[in-house]
Amino acid sequence: MTIHIGAAKGDIAETVLMPGDPYRAKWAAETFLENPKLINEVRGMLGYTGTWNGHQVTIQGSGMGMPSLSIYANELIRDYGAKTLIRIGSCGGMQDKVKVRDVILAMTASTVNSPSSGIFRELNYAPCADWGLLQAAAQAAAKHGAATHIGGIYSSDVFYDERPDLNEQMVRHGILGVEMEAAELYTLAARYGCRALAVLTVSDHLGTGEALPSDQRERSFGEMVEIALEAAFS
Ligand code: HPA
Repeated sequence: MTIHIGAAKGDIAETVLMPGDPYRAKWAAETFLENPKLINEVRGMLGYTGTWNGHQVTIQGSGMGMPSLSIYANELIRDYGAKTLIRIGSCGGMQDKVKVRDVILAMTASTVNSPSSGIFRELNYAPCADWGLLQAAAQAAAKHGAATHIGGIYSSDVFYDERPDLNEQMVRHGILGVEMEAAELYTLAARYGCRALAVLTVSDHLGTGEALPSDQRERSFGEMVEIALEAAFS
C-alpha cells in the first residue's frame, strides 16, 4: 500500500498498462484480461490485475497530465516493482498525414515542462521510448492492419492551449501528435531502468478540427490495448 495505491505488494504485475481514464482501465481489464481483480480504487483511480495469455498484467489509470501520471508511475516502479509501463491513450493529430483513428507509437516525447524538468536545469533531456517495445508494437500494429505513425510527439501541460505559435513549430518539426503524459513516463522509466512506450490513437485533429465520436472511441481503444499487450509479451 502506498499513498495513492491501495494494492498489496504482490497484487501488481511487472507489466502495467496505463490509460488516463480509470474507467478505461476497468473496461480494458474486463474485456481483455482473465480473472481481473480490482487492486486499487483510492481516489477512484481504478486499477486491475489479471492475466493475458498466462501473463500477469496490471491495468492502472494514470489520470490526466504529467503530475498525475508521475505519482502513479513513481509508486508503481519504486514501491511495486513495475518493469514495463505502457501508456494507452488518445492524442490530438498534428500532421496532415495523421488522421483521426490512426495509431501513433511515440518514439520521443518533447515537452516544455514536466515534473522532472527541475532536475535537468539547463539540459534539454530527450525522453524516448524503449526500442524493443517500440519495435514489437510496430509489428503488432502492422498485424492489426492499423494505420500507424512512428515518431515524435509532444507532451503538453495544457489541453486548452494558448500558444498557437508553439504548435506551429511542433508541426514544422514533424511532431505527430499532442497528449499530456508520455514525456514524464519515459523520463521515469529511464531513471529507474524500466521499459516504457506510449501507444496512442488519434481522437481529434488540431488542424482539421475533426474529432472521433465517442461511440467509435471504444473500438480504437480496444485495438490499442491489444497492440500494447502483444508488444509487452513479444
Ligand atoms: N491536446 C492535448 N491532449 C490531447 C489532445 C489535445 O488536443 N487530444 C487528446 N489528448
